[in-house]
Amino acid sequence: MPKEIQKDFIYQGDCLDILRTFPDKSVDLIFADPPYNMQTEGELLRTDGTAFDGVSDKWDKFSSLQDYDAFSKKWLTECRRVLKNDGAIWVIGSFQNIFRLGYIMQDLGFWILNDVIWSKPNAVPNFGGTRFQNSHETLIWCAKSKGAKYHFNYKTMKHLNGDKQMKSVWEIGICIGSERLKDTDGKKIHSTQKPEHLLYNIILSSTQKEDLVLDPFFGTGTTGAVAKRLGRHFVGIEREAAYIEAAKKRINSVQLEFSDLIDNVFDVKPPRFSIKQLVQFGYLSVGQKLYSKDKRYYAEICEDGDVFDGETKASIHKMSAKYLNRSNNNGWDYFWCEYNGEFVTIDSLRYLAKEKGGVL
Ligand SMILES: C[S@@+](CC[C@H](N)C(=O)[O-])C[C@H]1O[C@@H](n2cnc3c(N)ncnc32)[C@H](O)[C@@H]1O
Repeated sequence: MPKEIQKDFIYQGDCLDILRTFPDKSVDLIFADPPYNMQTEGELLRTDGTAFDGVSDKWDKFSSLQDYDAFSKKWLTECRRVLKNDGAIWVIGSFQNIFRLGYIMQDLGFWILNDVIWSKPNAVPNFGGTRFQNSHETLIWCAKSKGAKYHFNYKTMKHLNGDKQMKSVWEIGICIGSERLKDTDGKKIHSTQKPEHLLYNIILSSTQKEDLVLDPFFGTGTTGAVAKRLGRHFVGIEREAAYIEAAKKRINSVQLEFSDLIDNVFDVKPPRFSIKQLVQFGYLSVGQKLYSKDKRYYAEICEDGDVFDGETKASIHKMSAKYLNRSNNNGWDYFWCEYNGEFVTIDSLRYLAKEKGGVL
């Protein structure tokens, strides 16, 4: 019988064994940074002849592409099973593995929402000058199935991007400096530690506060650190004890971020009240004038919740669109009114009504 998942906990072991113990539909988001299966042979040398410390770890070795595919299919199948129906998964990889993973994910029924390019301004050069400098990795973002609901904090991400729609190419430096975990000899603890900025975008865009984020290839716990910072829960799986130890230490020192962003305030839906209801509850009245902010235009409230400006009877949306010469507009943002001696937006009355539970 599957057991409850222990939240904010790192399980040590093979992710296939551990995932199989998790109940169905129990996590809100999955971030997976699986082995790349780099297939590098021999030592990578810089132009000055010194050895480059790339990804040559044991955990990245598979006997064949078929072996890698079989492993990928198994962990992705388990991930899909433990994902809630309205959850989502982000998988990261490079040219060596991402196409194979995308193919398997589509076959398993995941529904691709975007592929995001993580563009690295400080990528490692191609030392031999034999190919282009490989300066990006690809992330595949999927819903559980076609037509499934998923969370996307669109406005939060737009806000983060200087009030412009966020694009699918993210320029983020590779993890260096004080963020890079090192051992007592100053050596990198993990060869592929991801930058927190990357996980920040992923977790903030795809979850709500208190959601549970699963990372089946936890490494040094970048996912856990960012989840904690954003007021989300995490569960990690990792085979190597040394990485777990580093991850625990790192996560223990993380503080919750104090910001409106973590509550996704930009994406909170406005209270559902109509003009007619605001009249019924006494916040507005029939015949009352609603004005444009500069008071150049006004229309009076009708009994059915429409407004009339002496010429046209229409909804607040259509009426504001008429004044702005547009085909449609949000009337809640356009109209203002007098309320208790103050000039306020009608939108603010919806929030007031929500606060007071409707009745005045
Ligand atoms: C690409 S790294 C993840 C790095 C991580 N995102 C970070 O920022 O530190 C993949 C990790 O998966 C772990 N791993 C590989 N195969 C595994 C398996 N079958 N079960 C659990 N962990 C595994 C490796 O030890 C490695 O730490």
